[in-house]
Amino acid sequence: MAINRPKGTEDHLPALSPKLTLDVSAQAHSWLVEKARRVLERAGAQRIDTPLFEEADLVKRGVGGSTDIVRKEMFTVYYFGDHGGYILRPEGTAAIVRSYLQNGLKQLPAPLKLWTHGPMFRAERQQRGRLRQFHQVDYEVLGSTDALVDAEAIALMVGVVRELGLTGVRVKLGSIGDPEDRERYNTYLRELFTPQLERLSDDSKDRLTRNPMRILDSKSASDQELLAELGVRPMLDFLGEEAGAHFRAVQGYLTEWGVEFDIDPSIVRGLDYYRRTAWELHHEGVGAKSALGGGGRYDGLAQELGSKETIPGIGWAFGVERLLLALEAEGMALPELAGPLLYVAALDEVNVPHAARTAMSARAHARAEFAYRAMKPAAAFRDAERRGAHWVALLGTDEVTQGTLSLKNIRTGEQRSLAAADLAAFLQEHA
Ligand code: HAM
Repeated sequence: MAINRPKGTEDHLPALSPKLTLDVSAQAHSWLVEKARRVLERAGAQRIDTPLFEEADLVKRGVGGSTDIVRKEMFTVYYFGDHGGYILRPEGTAAIVRSYLQNGLKQLPAPLKLWTHGPMFRAERQQRGRLRQFHQVDYEVLGSTDALVDAEAIALMVGVVRELGLTGVRVKLGSIGDPEDRERYNTYLRELFTPQLERLSDDSKDRLTRNPMRILDSKSASDQELLAELGVRPMLDFLGEEAGAHFRAVQGYLTEWGVEFDIDPSIVRGLDYYRRTAWELHHEGVGAKSALGGGGRYDGLAQELGSKETIPGIGWAFGVERLLLALEAEGMALPELAGPLLYVAALDEVNVPHAARTAMSARAHARAEFAYRAMKPAAAFRDAERRGAHWVALLGTDEVTQGTLSLKNIRTGEQRSLAAADLAAFLQEHA
């Protein structure tokens, strides 16, 4: 029996693979991450990488016990003799804050801007754009409560979208207030839902005790019907004075900079660490339920993870696969095969090692490949073309003894002869 990849995972494939789509193109993934890196590093963000697995407690305390992630979607890591106390990371924020605390990054100039990219793991039911191993580009800022930092974070997210050339993206902005605002909101929700207990899904009955606000995020259709019927008031109605002023300041900066957004009073977010600003980016091509990315402020997270001091923070993450699905929906073509500038083929078996050496030394200057066996000119051109080569050098005994190369440009048909010693300059000129 053939072995297949695990459900909910994807292989990232090379160019020209059969049935290739943008979201599983390895080249498209690297292209996207490179674009994001440029936007984020120009804004002063530095790269950070944390392990792919962490203590289970980090995830439970960080992401929160009332979330679907902790309750249903964690991958536990076991290894011989171990107690199973590790979890494949479902997201990047908790670990970055852990790393900030553990490595004394507080000594670096604040606010400290960090970014990362890599796989995240959630045992969700697979759908389009919903995977068990997916990838995020993640941006975090630690050490400031200033609304200017929130606005800049949102603007940078929009900056990445623009750099990618995506147009149909909407920013849905909200605030989930300070903890005491949320407590007032949860009390309101408890009073509203308790008489309707029988009509709530089992999950939402449980949410009613742990964190009623999670009911608003329920995936159950009957819960959503009940919500519509009850005409639930939004969290925004419950913002306290400080959170309200902070929220207005964020909007003010965004408006001043011309960053468009829609206020979404119902924004909840699927993680427990948020407070104040929270937002999501959406795109029609990916579906209304699936955000391209989202983020928010998390000033209480560091303390949740054991810090004595408050370390304010804010950040966001994009789902890379979802960005690629959105780009595909907007008609972006698959990246082309990045073929070699030079392809060297020997016409006789005895000259194959010479062709190999020529190509290998050319790699100091450009992408270069060679044929592993002797070829007739027509076959060499055909092979070079399939590999996307620009220039083909055919090496016969004459060329090898005279120290020359006969070059042909596959795309234009141009031919020229070159002294082998001039190859480096030629490649530099055409790179
Ligand atoms: P999140 O909303 O859970 O936030 O995830 C961010 C993005 O990751 C989502 O909007 C989506 O594009 C992508 N994503 C999440 N789950 C999946 C999945 N199963 N399959 C494919 N894509 C998925 C966070 O993770 C927070 N850590 C963001 C953040 C950073 N907040 C503050 N700092």
